[in-house]
Amino acid sequence: MLAYLDHHATTPCDAAVLAAMAPWWSEQFANPSSRLYRPALEAAAAVAIAREQVAAALAMPAASVVFTCGATEANNLALKGVAEAALEGGNPRRGLVTLATEHRAVLDPLAWLHRHGFPLTVLPVEADGRVDLDRLAAALGPSTLLLSVMAANNEIGVLQPLAAIGALCRDRGVLFHCDAAQAVGHIPLAMDELGIDLLSLSGHKLYGPKGVGALLQRPGVPLAPQQHGGGQEGGLRAGSSPVPLLVGLGVAVTLAEADRAERSGRLAALRNRLWQGLEALGDVQRNGSALHALPHNLNVSVGGVDGQRLHRMLRQRLAVSSGSACSQGSPSHVLAALGRSRSQAAASIRFGLGRASDDSTMDAALAAVTEAVTELR
Ligand SMILES: Cc1ncc(COP(=O)(O)O)c(C=O)c1O
Repeated sequence: MLAYLDHHATTPCDAAVLAAMAPWWSEQFANPSSRLYRPALEAAAAVAIAREQVAAALAMPAASVVFTCGATEANNLALKGVAEAALEGGNPRRGLVTLATEHRAVLDPLAWLHRHGFPLTVLPVEADGRVDLDRLAAALGPSTLLLSVMAANNEIGVLQPLAAIGALCRDRGVLFHCDAAQAVGHIPLAMDELGIDLLSLSGHKLYGPKGVGALLQRPGVPLAPQQHGGGQEGGLRAGSSPVPLLVGLGVAVTLAEADRAERSGRLAALRNRLWQGLEALGDVQRNGSALHALPHNLNVSVGGVDGQRLHRMLRQRLAVSSGSACSQGSPSHVLAALGRSRSQAAASIRFGLGRASDDSTMDAALAAVTEAVTELR
């Protein structure tokens, strides 16, 4: 049996989430925008509950939630929406700042904006994957419009110092966007307390459905819509609401928050046990900070083995990743930013533990890696 340890790529949809979504596909199928008859009003009420559930997880008002089809769309809306609003609103600031280890769903829209006239600064990270706050402070000038820094890295699980970053941004009048796709439902995140103006999240990273996510917008943050049409989502994201997916996202966020503390303690203990076992193999290096990391992440580079051969052996028994699921085989830009060589990146293993992970999953993972490494060495 394949042991699934790739929860940063995606998580299984929780059975309770599926059950909550079920009636909204064909029994209660009305469009919440129709508004004139009871089934439509019931659908609108279900969407309103989902909006409250998502907002509550981030300690924000319901009106701050803009539903999207995922974190990629939320990031595009945040970054391009802020840039366009600045152009239209006469804000002279144009500078965009980010980190080299961000997800492509942040780096690519920022690169697009750069090609359209917005100066872009991509800052390096320290050897442990965290940003140096002095370097960051020096990069935020009077012409900086927005900073985008993720809450938790999808490859190495590293957590950035969000509260300190948020304070720097507020001090300098810089908007702070945070891609929290890997963090919501996994670590506590009070958006306003952390000084975050815009926050992206994704349903399928927290045991919810695929194809749904949200952008949370602090009231008053100027944002121009990037999809025009029927005026849904307060005019910020046109298109008929996918009621079952929104209901599923709301329930998934609520359930993830409910078991977050228990789950993170349990998974951190399992992860630590896995790390101890891997470390005992010798010449195994941990990628990213061990102290400031998601409780369910472990990313290692194995020395003395060929990465391709290692993963060819592992894939019979383990669902793990050698980098980002979105990076399509190219060497990981995140591991490169930590100073890892191409061969070290290729011989890296990303473990993402999840709700169903237990001692037997760790035993299976450790046995598979031990046998492969012993044979290859
Ligand atoms: C940090 C991060 N941002 C954005 C995304 C994209 O999310 P979605 O699949 O919801 O578009 C991912 C998914 O891999 C991610 O890990």
